Amino acid sequence: MQNFISIADTTDINALVRAGIEAKADPFKDQHLGKNKTMGLLFFNASLRTRLSTQKAAQNLGMNTIVMNVGTDGWGLEMEDGVVMNADKAEHVKEAAAVIAQYCDVIGIRAFAGLQDRDKDYAELVMNQFKKYAGVPIVNLESATRHPLQSLADCITIEELKTKPRPKVVLTWLPHFKALPQAVANSFCEWMNPWDVDLVVTHPQGYELAPEFLGNATVVYDQNEALENADFVYGKNWSSYQQYGQVLTQDSTWMMTAEKMARTNNGKFMHCLPVRRNLKVTDEVLDSDASVVVQQAGNREWSAQAVLRDILIDMATKK
Ligand code: CP
Repeated sequence: MQNFISIADTTDINALVRAGIEAKADPFKDQHLGKNKTMGLLFFNASLRTRLSTQKAAQNLGMNTIVMNVGTDGWGLEMEDGVVMNADKAEHVKEAAAVIAQYCDVIGIRAFAGLQDRDKDYAELVMNQFKKYAGVPIVNLESATRHPLQSLADCITIEELKTKPRPKVVLTWLPHFKALPQAVANSFCEWMNPWDVDLVVTHPQGYELAPEFLGNATVVYDQNEALENADFVYGKNWSSYQQYGQVLTQDSTWMMTAEKMARTNNGKFMHCLPVRRNLKVTDEVLDSDASVVVQQAGNREWSAQAVLRDILIDMATKK
């Protein structure tokens, strides 16, 4: 694997899932791979899990890590080519990416959607410009439209917990007052579609995901109907794709409750975190045995390690 920007950079999801599970069982077996290599982690947005788990994974592989909150501590970065830089952006990504690559062998980047301009967000300018100008492997730490390290951790979690070969997995929209990106929901569908699960997506009218991400998933607008016999319930809020970036409803009847979980097949509740308690999901669900959100977050370390291992092996074979 040369980069990890989307699922298109992977050839075998199951091999990555297995590598993650093997890393979890024996975290330091590949320490030699990252010796004298440095991973730079650039954050344009806040993070807890991604920041800590990716550093830990890199260190498990013997890498050094440098973390920078570029969104607050760096020069404002111009991403567009050919512009007159007479506004608030002091540095162009063309120099910045190339310079960072002088210090780092692999670069991880978190840059959320602006939620103002759909075409701009869905063009993934930040990831693509860093890929174009850095010349070293790029890892997506959540971009405008995708969060593939989260999705791989979700696959690992489902693989660990599933009790049948083809579980029913329900992605359900949950209420929130803020406009949140579609990245986690998009990515989850993108990874579940080719995998061995029956994927059902449920949300209020107006929250349809982009068709290229929804894929062959079944959309059911009645949340209670969607949850029937679910083996996994994946909760997430996202803003509208059609009426881009808008909050169309905050309908609290979409909150996940114990009564709703009772409709499932002893289903597990998943969420990428952070999650707002009693707004999106009740204390009762999060504090129950059905909730696997901490195990899921723990698996972020192993998804990052599986990806970085693959990138380091690819780098070593090209020497
Ligand atoms: N799930 C996730 O990406 O968490 P952070 O935003 O805290 O990194």
